[in-house]
Amino acid sequence: MDLFEAVKNRRSVRNFTDQPVSEDDLNKILEAANDAPSARNKQPWRFIVIKNKQVSENIAVEINKKLDHIYEKAQQETNQNIIEKVNHYRTPFTFFKRAPITVAVIMTKYEGTGLSKLVGVDSSVYRSDLQSVSAAIQNFLLAAHALSYGSCWMTGPLIAHPEISNILNLKNDEQLVALLPLGKYALTPKKKPRKTFEQVTSYID
Ligand SMILES: Cc1cc2nc3c(=O)[nH]c(=O)nc-3n(C[C@H](O)[C@H](O)[C@H](O)COP(=O)(O)O)c2cc1C
Repeated sequence: MDLFEAVKNRRSVRNFTDQPVSEDDLNKILEAANDAPSARNKQPWRFIVIKNKQVSENIAVEINKKLDHIYEKAQQETNQNIIEKVNHYRTPFTFFKRAPITVAVIMTKYEGTGLSKLVGVDSSVYRSDLQSVSAAIQNFLLAAHALSYGSCWMTGPLIAHPEISNILNLKNDEQLVALLPLGKYALTPKKKPRKTFEQVTSYID
């Protein structure tokens, strides 16, 4: 598939068929993610491929528990805005469990190791770890699309990040960045509208 076609036609997919993901395709997608650029070529990522449905379910349960807790508190405080938001986000935060596979993207946190660190520049300006991992995620999504799989970059689940980190046995210097469900899909979601590139570009001649 042509790169521009892949970029143009990729969609966030939220409904999956039961068709399994072939080991070969999964490896190609992970290899594409791993081929992303990273600051100082540190590759501050690792991927946990969750094939066990019970583990996906356990993660979804933790997210729902978190939402229940927020909902109860909002009810006590009669905060209608939060009550409506919680109800709205339940599915967008947990639909990964419908996919045959979910890949958890894990970042090894670091606060800059080059000149910026030596001279004490605020590391939050760089977030080189997160920028690098984001490039890997985009590669993953494009590779999945090129092989006719659907996926979706999901950060909603991070609402329960301590509990998910526990389930996934993450180390202290690691952070869950996103969940990426992966599977075949029956219906292609509509293209979401975009601002034009002219609207978001300015030139300094
Ligand atoms: C950082 C990030 C986090 C996202 N988190 C979620 C999420 O938790 N749940 C969800 O349904 N979609 C999530 N999305 C998908 C966006 O909603 C989607 O990319 C956007 O609406 C554009 O649609 P498209 O991907 O089909 O072009 C996320 C996307 C990004 C880049």
